[in-house]
Amino acid sequence: MRTTGPTSRAALTLSPIGVIRSPHRDPGTTPIQPACAEGCRGEVEVFAAYAAGLDDVDGFSHVHLLYWLHLSGTPSMKVTPFLDDRPRGLFATRAPNRPNPLGLSVVRVIERRGRILVVEDLDALDGTPLFDIKPYVERFDVRTGTRGGWSDGVDDGTFRRRGARGGAAAPGAVAGRSSADTGVCAAEHAAPGAEETSPPDAGY
Ligand SMILES: C[S@@+](CC[C@H](N)C(=O)[O-])C[C@H]1O[C@@H](n2cnc3c(N)ncnc32)[C@H](O)[C@@H]1O
Repeated sequence: MRTTGPTSRAALTLSPIGVIRSPHRDPGTTPIQPACAEGCRGEVEVFAAYAAGLDDVDGFSHVHLLYWLHLSGTPSMKVTPFLDDRPRGLFATRAPNRPNPLGLSVVRVIERRGRILVVEDLDALDGTPLFDIKPYVERFDVRTGTRGGWSDGVDDGTFRRRGARGGAAAPGAVAGRSSADTGVCAAEHAAPGAEETSPPDAGY
């Protein structure tokens, strides 16, 4: 099939539109997904040229952040997910070490302050370059009756324990309450590396 755009292997150029300010400074203690990072508050700082693009964003409870996992390492096509004990194909995982280390997170919008969007549930490291923000819309983004591949075999306890990685209170860990109830994000209280319990290069 012919295309009118760049050939499939051509390099493309992207420029950050901003930067993510996060409480997470250590990959080894950063939650592996927003669902494991409840209460982890930070700021999405958009560069001045794009500030007007934040108009109306605070009408949405959640947004997708698309970003560059700038501290990621060399990718391998087989990785052992952090939640699993068996190697899986890279593209069946959300491992940060990828040929193009793009990150995708749905985060909660708290408020907009000028060119700053205050958000919660961050699983990105402080200083992560931001490529885009898109509103999370149930009618666009929610699918029901889905299959979760190997992740369907991960029980809730393992998900909570391994997913938080010390960077957030595990959902449901405090007397049956979620960290959203308690508002606890351990990253705000722990010195970098203080709670490291897992290798930073685990596969996720
Ligand atoms: C498993 S990835 C998932 C990221 C995103 N939610 C996704 O699915 O694309 C999250 C992990 O990547 C690592 N990480 C976060 N920000 C990073 C960055 N800027 N560079 C490299 N690694 C990062 C942290 O160790 C964190 O636990």
